[in-house]
Amino acid sequence: MDTESLYKTAKLLMTPGKGILAADQSVSTMNKQLEAIGATPEAETRRLYRQLLFTAPGIEKYVTGIILYDATIRNHTDDGTAFVDHLIAKGVIPIIKVDKSTVPFEGFPGEVVTEGLDGLKERLEEYFKMGARAAKWRAVVNIGDGLPTLDSIKFNCMLLARYARLCQEIGLVPIVEPEVIYEGTHDLARAEEVTTLTLRTLFTVLTQYRVDLKATILKTSMVLSGSKNAKPSTPEEVAEATLQTLDNAVPNSVAGIVFLSGGQTPEQVTANFNAIGKLEKESGGLPWALAFSFSRGIEQPVQEVWKGKSENVSAAQQKLIEVLERNCKADAGQL
Ligand code: G3H
Repeated sequence: MDTESLYKTAKLLMTPGKGILAADQSVSTMNKQLEAIGATPEAETRRLYRQLLFTAPGIEKYVTGIILYDATIRNHTDDGTAFVDHLIAKGVIPIIKVDKSTVPFEGFPGEVVTEGLDGLKERLEEYFKMGARAAKWRAVVNIGDGLPTLDSIKFNCMLLARYARLCQEIGLVPIVEPEVIYEGTHDLARAEEVTTLTLRTLFTVLTQYRVDLKATILKTSMVLSGSKNAKPSTPEEVAEATLQTLDNAVPNSVAGIVFLSGGQTPEQVTANFNAIGKLEKESGGLPWALAFSFSRGIEQPVQEVWKGKSENVSAAQQKLIEVLERNCKADAGQL
């Protein structure tokens, strides 16, 4: 295991003042997003959309890495340059989503398990050869009546551990993403309880299965009351609960922590991220670097400007840069 290269990549990914763009929507999710803006859900539209994002002038000032989907890492710009090569030339690290999404977890009603371990070693080797230097795997934790179960959390964490250790063997920094789902009627205290349990379990299992935490990035949900709870959490409440959870559950040795947007609106997630940045400053610093790694939280406004039309590409790219810049300011609590 080439630990020095892994540490170097992890450090670059967590460069202060920048974030990670998650452009790793699956084909079906991307198609739904295209339909929502009136664009044709087909391969060429998906390619044009990713090209719009990756060629936005100056994007490298705001992102250290971009998470790609399998079909995207194999795709190219109009002039035939592979997207990965284009990103590397800009100093942006290509990251690859390697899980194969979730399926119902038999015996555990309301819970899901992530697939994708079969043939993973060979896929990781191929992605590394293509130029990827980090990989992401998403597990899902639902909150509901009697949910989640500790058994389901543990099982998903074991899958994350297997994936993470394989990544490190091959030279890819694992981004472990146990997403605690925002949708639900749960309150803030319950979100904190579940996120703390999930993260504590995750790090116990990762350590048990010999994953090097210094070469691992955590991608986590912010801690907030559920989307259907009568009392939405304020940004200050989100910041306090999130930092308290991280403090209680994440070992100091972890290379960095990035946040997903998880269905929060772009305005909401940026306001919450800004409050986290402010509280981080007030606290005099944390053991880990924090950054954004939003997909919907960044891309929704861009898609709304683009609408699948070539004449809107430049305006959509400007919108992307504007949203990225706002989130970089929020990182420093400067909004
Ligand atoms: O796995 C999820 C993505 O990487 C983040 O997506 O910001 O829309 O939750 P999101």
